[in-house]
Amino acid sequence: MRVLVVGSGGREHALAWRLRRSDSVTELFAAPGNSGTAGLGTNLPIADTDVDGIVAAAAGHAIDLVVVGPETPLALGLADHLAAADIPAFGPSRAAARLESSKSFARSVLDAADVPGPNYRVFQTVSGALSYVDYHDRPVVVKADGLAAGKGVAMCASREDAKIAIRACMEDRIFGTSGETVVIEDWLHGIEVSVFGFTDGENLSELVAATDYKRVGEGDVGPNTGGMGSFGPPDLWNAELAHEIRQRFMLPVIRELAERGCPYRGALYCGLMLTRDGPRVLEFNCRFGDPETQVIMPRLLSDPVEAMLACVNGNLDDAGPVEWSERPAVAVVMVSGGYPGQYQTGYAINGLADDAGDSDSIVFHAGAQLAKDGSGDVVTAGGRVLAVVGLGDRVTEARQRAYHRVQTISFTDAYYRRDIAAMPAVEPVSA
Ligand code: GLY
Repeated sequence: MRVLVVGSGGREHALAWRLRRSDSVTELFAAPGNSGTAGLGTNLPIADTDVDGIVAAAAGHAIDLVVVGPETPLALGLADHLAAADIPAFGPSRAAARLESSKSFARSVLDAADVPGPNYRVFQTVSGALSYVDYHDRPVVVKADGLAAGKGVAMCASREDAKIAIRACMEDRIFGTSGETVVIEDWLHGIEVSVFGFTDGENLSELVAATDYKRVGEGDVGPNTGGMGSFGPPDLWNAELAHEIRQRFMLPVIRELAERGCPYRGALYCGLMLTRDGPRVLEFNCRFGDPETQVIMPRLLSDPVEAMLACVNGNLDDAGPVEWSERPAVAVVMVSGGYPGQYQTGYAINGLADDAGDSDSIVFHAGAQLAKDGSGDVVTAGGRVLAVVGLGDRVTEARQRAYHRVQTISFTDAYYRRDIAAMPAVEPVSA
């Protein structure tokens, strides 16, 4: 099979890496890809938001399966356009992807499906939102309704913070039309977990979970980032919790979307807070997480092509079970110094080839590209540059492998957190 992966980040390199190891994949393409995907197949110079360009390229290269990594092309209807051209696409339709592209739509689905979550209100006017926080006596989270490149969520410890966030969205329009509507939720405390499954619109595969680290600084301080690391399975993840998340959170949402006439097919991402009062939903996303994918793809034992095609064709129950390895994986993200603020790119990355034959250590490229001089050198090209993954029989071993490999890689101004997967286990606290 000829497979095209859409996107250019670490998640897409991890997807491409796992797909390339499938016996059924004969040729792999990425659009636009990065230096990591270039090592696995052919990068096509097409932006992931260029829907017409991707459909034309998929037809031109006789692609048998398109795997869409990021949310934006899905929200633009890439899966619908590919389906209209009779090209199998792994990823939900535009209508189903509203689960991520509209927070207010998602909340209405979650309410209808009776999924436990925080108290929330939706506002279309600044005055309504401001007066709500004036009379609300708990810290809140202000969310831009639409997509905002992962930056649309403001954690507001005080009323003043909440008002600043509301005005930035609704008056200053820092997220454009995505912030015309805001959702204001009570701030939940506890342990955050990302849970993923394959679904064909009715059936849901075995679940896999991971924890990501969003803050730039060790000890979870400083600004939010696209993710500084991840590990899985999380400390508290077990069969009982997986059963609860499947039955009370994910299957009800799948059923509700099917009833609304927009069945969800693809990777379903349930973001949860494990509170003392039980799990509560934070968000649903319409794709695999980044950098969670970098720790779940190495743990996927089943054939990804079989699972993805079964989602597309609506026969996941006929396919074999999707199996995940018990072995933990840890990903340490190496970023450009200054990220998530200003940073320089174009620095040579050294040590990438040096895996010392260790199959339990993998480097996924993200903001990294082949140098334009044709030398084959890899240079930094973004904020999050690499995700360095270690696998082991225990988290401590996986972590040791990841950090050992990190120490063999260098580029100017490289920064990484030293506490990934080392955070003390925290008891969930009250919601
Ligand atoms: N790791 C968070 C996300 O992918 O949205």
